[in-house]
Amino acid sequence: MKRLMIILTIILATFSVAYAIHETMPAETTVPLPGPHASAIYKYITAEDNYRDWTLWPGKGKKFQARPPLEIATTYLNENAYYSLRVREKMANGSIIVTENYDRNRNLKAIFVMYKIKGYNPKAGNWYWAQYDPDGRTKAAGRVSACIDCHSKVKNNDYIFTEPFVK
Ligand code: HEC
Repeated sequence: MKRLMIILTIILATFSVAYAIHETMPAETTVPLPGPHASAIYKYITAEDNYRDWTLWPGKGKKFQARPPLEIATTYLNENAYYSLRVREKMANGSIIVTENYDRNRNLKAIFVMYKIKGYNPKAGNWYWAQYDPDGRTKAAGRVSACIDCHSKVKNNDYIFTEPFVK
């Protein structure tokens, strides 16, 4: 009887430790981040770690009036990006920012992505740039010069326009 109790206690302890570890592990460490591939990134942000469940850019609601070339936008930050924003440092590797752009009639027109990949493009902040149609078709991806040229105006803010945050 005593031996049975000991065995039961051990089993229970093992399970609760496993459960506790599982509980504290953030989603992004359970699903590996995608490489620099437009389709893998799209799959990641729409299925594996759906961007619509991420944090909105603080202070910006859904469908806010954006500056050109965007119109009406919603901007989402994954865990790494949100963390970097809060500590006011350049975005950590693995940061992903997704901006949906809507037209005046509030129809989704495009999905813009900035994804920070370690060593990907040191000359321009290591950002991977991507633009998708609402149905997921890739319109532009990689070291896209059009994106980089314009976003370079805010190079000191880690190429991010929405709001100054880098201290
Ligand atoms: C002519 C300038 C210009 C070009 C070209 C441009 N952007 Fe932007 N982008 C902006 C501005 C301005 C904002 C901020 C809009 C706002 O929030 O009011 C922005 C916002 C963003 C954001 C939200 C994060 C941030 O920087 O504020 C992402 C993501 C983004 N753009 C991706 C892209 C991608 C990908 C491309 C290329 C396919 C691109 N942009 C091309 C000007 C530009």
